[in-house]
Amino acid sequence: MFQINDNYQKLPGSYLFSTIAKKVAAFSEANPDKTIIRLGIGDVTQPIAPAIIDAMHKAVDEMADAKTFRGYAPDLGYEFLRKAIADNDYKARGCDIEADEIFVSDGAKSDSGNIQEIFGADNRIAVCDPVYPVYVDSNVMAGRTGTYDAATGMWSNVIYMPCTRENNFVPEFPKETPDMIYLCLPNNPTGTTITKAQLQEWVDYANKVGAVIIYDGAYEAYISEDDVAHSIYECEGAKTCAIELKSFSKNAGFTGVRLGYTVVPKELKCGDVSLHSMWARRHGTKFNGAPYIIQRAGEAVYSEAGKAQLKEQIAYYMKNAKTIKSGLQETGFEVYGGVNAPYIWLKTPDSMTSWEFFDYLLEKANVVGTPGSGFGPSGEGYFRLTAFGSYENTVAALERIKAL
Ligand code: MLT
Repeated sequence: MFQINDNYQKLPGSYLFSTIAKKVAAFSEANPDKTIIRLGIGDVTQPIAPAIIDAMHKAVDEMADAKTFRGYAPDLGYEFLRKAIADNDYKARGCDIEADEIFVSDGAKSDSGNIQEIFGADNRIAVCDPVYPVYVDSNVMAGRTGTYDAATGMWSNVIYMPCTRENNFVPEFPKETPDMIYLCLPNNPTGTTITKAQLQEWVDYANKVGAVIIYDGAYEAYISEDDVAHSIYECEGAKTCAIELKSFSKNAGFTGVRLGYTVVPKELKCGDVSLHSMWARRHGTKFNGAPYIIQRAGEAVYSEAGKAQLKEQIAYYMKNAKTIKSGLQETGFEVYGGVNAPYIWLKTPDSMTSWEFFDYLLEKANVVGTPGSGFGPSGEGYFRLTAFGSYENTVAALERIKAL
């Protein structure tokens, strides 16, 4: 008789955004006359920029001609894209990352879920609390997290680093020593971030204790303040302790086309073993490359026209962030984030739990957000709104919230 991976049985409920989608679908079915505004999942709404669409069209035409047709993509990514990434995201910022240290993928969600595979089963992970659920869930599936306590919402073998208003949403070094540290900066879900000097302290800490940092930089394009690092490799010593995950979803609207990359520096080693070689082995075995058409689209992100168009798109979403933040503040909400990230993190009013506020907002204002407790126990009493809606919907949502 076959056996299953029992770790899956330990996962409580469904994936956060699936649960929300089901709740919203049920509400919508019961209230077909209501127009729902979705500011829950961080999914973009603006069309892909023209320079990128042009590149995709051209690549589609190439696929229609035997002379330019491409089959399997190189498993680690086309050289043209890896070079564009290295030049623009790293060398232009003074980070010494080479094209062959970049692994192109079908998105940062897959990479952030898969990266734990190259680490030992006994490693202890440390996560910010609240946190993007994929980091914890993927480690649950791998059997690394111990048992779940439904009363506290915590796993026995996970080190939690609470990020609350008391510590300005800045994670503190944990009392117990972790082996793997997940950091997402600017942060999902709180929309806050830390300075480059603070990030340097994390790099120094990881090098000192022999931990690896899994650094999720999905929201880097939204950084507006000068003292915030755009890559962990801006910090000295990061190449010996950090893996960086990047997405094209939030900076270029690729949520529906899927593209991301992971940087594993060659200097990152466990004893004599190169993590770069391990990830190359894993990628080569389990992945057949992101589609050519999408990698050409990714390349266009770095073209002059692409950069200019995306700058406008980011400004559009950040105008939404400002609208949400100031609108909520005027209404008396306690609000965080929204300056270096497209997420607004608010304290729920009248001591409502996160899910109570979710239901209240959905029923009374027909606005969907994300309950903070879905991201971890320290998210209880908070709520996340995304700036990725259309401007019109954002303004309308705020009007509805103000009218409550
Ligand atoms: C979120 O809403 O937290 C993200 O959009 C989810 C994701 O990027 O997978």
